[in-house]
Amino acid sequence: MKENKIPIWRQELKAARQKEGKLPSSRWFQLCTINGNNEPRLRTVVFRGWQTESSILIFTDNRSEKIAHLKLNSNAEVLWLLFKSKSQFRFKGKMNEIKENIKYWDTLSDRSKSTWFWQHPGKEINNNIQPSQIIYSNLDKPESFVVLEFKIYSVDLLKLVTPIHKRYVWNKEDNWKKVEINP
Ligand SMILES: Cc1cc2nc3c(=O)[nH]c(=O)nc-3n(C[C@H](O)[C@H](O)[C@H](O)COP(=O)(O)O)c2cc1C
Repeated sequence: MKENKIPIWRQELKAARQKEGKLPSSRWFQLCTINGNNEPRLRTVVFRGWQTESSILIFTDNRSEKIAHLKLNSNAEVLWLLFKSKSQFRFKGKMNEIKENIKYWDTLSDRSKSTWFWQHPGKEINNNIQPSQIIYSNLDKPESFVVLEFKIYSVDLLKLVTPIHKRYVWNKEDNWKKVEINP
């Protein structure tokens, strides 16, 4: 079921992102997953937009380690630092895969698409294999293309303002009620 009401914290995020202007880095955040040994693993990914009012789209490669982690444990955390407003957003959530993903593939440039045809990420490079010539006119969606939906249920915002930093939390189960806490 689609949610309707845009949570109030989205306005805070929007304002912080607007301050960044056109910087590509305003679309980058860190995604943490938990591996099979219960160890945290972090990496940077690109924000690909909102799926619902409180869920984020991420594109990734089916062969990457994060996918194996998420199969074992769908809990994840996102850390999004917006430099100009000195705002740190931490999102707790659950990840799931959107299987019907052709419409997302179609939004990508050919250069972006070609990255999903590279060799297996994380494996030792085989220099005997010539980089395959990607024929840009035939970039049909490969198995490796995965769209993830990160469903946020808790938000923690820290703003480094003077004289005293501000910190707020919102929880979905409390209808996203804004609560100010000590920084
Ligand atoms: C600026 C930047 C943006 C990135 N965006 C993505 C992305 O959108 N999706 C992705 O899977 N990896 C992205 N990566 C690569 C990941 O950080 C990571 O190296 C890769 O996904 C493999 O991670 P894993 O082995 O932990 O799954 C990006 C890296 C950088 C530096």
